Amino acid sequence: MNILKFDSEENWIEGVASFWRDRLRLNPRLKICLPSGLTPNPIYEAMGRSVSRGEVSFREAEIFSLDEYGGLAPDDPGLCRNMLRRYLLDGIDLPKDRFHPIDTQAADLDRVCREYEQAIGSGFDLTLLGIGLNGHLGLNEPGSAADSPTRRIEMHPTNISGSARYLSHSKLPTWGVAVGLKRLLASKEVWLLANGSAKAEIIRRTLQDKISVALPASLLRTHPRSYLLVDAEAGALI
Ligand code: PGA
Repeated sequence: MNILKFDSEENWIEGVASFWRDRLRLNPRLKICLPSGLTPNPIYEAMGRSVSRGEVSFREAEIFSLDEYGGLAPDDPGLCRNMLRRYLLDGIDLPKDRFHPIDTQAADLDRVCREYEQAIGSGFDLTLLGIGLNGHLGLNEPGSAADSPTRRIEMHPTNISGSARYLSHSKLPTWGVAVGLKRLLASKEVWLLANGSAKAEIIRRTLQDKISVALPASLLRTHPRSYLLVDAEAGALI
């Protein structure tokens, strides 16, 4: 795993955005898998500014949502698709039909997962990931198989309570659908993002614990083009 530690949060945001601009310029048709959550939002906002300054374009790119909660109303601001819209999609020039949310409202979830896998097709060029305090990737909780497909996942209690930080009500989701570890590990390039001191210990464990499905993020160490991109606080113990 390649490690890049930035000396401030500001430099982390700008550094990641700058790498992302480079990737898009090299391959404007970049197929990207993106998380929602608090971690990537400032980077998404930086990409919006880059697009409005004409430095880069998403016109030919394709964006897939990493995961989605189940059981929330379609207009719930805490849905991953709505967070992605708010922080990224509304600020960039990606054509609407090039964004692929996961439809957890559908009656037939197996079909949704199957069709999502088909839409992903040959795979992602670039995957950005946040990390949960238990080392989960998206909703791929500890114990998820390294070859798991896109599927419904029952959330661990810590992540159910953790979802409250995205929601303005107390009806917390207990399940969701996520792109499986198989696709994440097959992405040509994977960036694991973390900022802030709360992530320092799990980042240390991601690098130092045994590589195991018990800590999904540790599996990224087997990927030849995985990058850990952290600010000084998240990287304080490595
Ligand atoms: P966060 O979530 O970016 O909001 O910290 C990360 C996660 O739990 O996967």
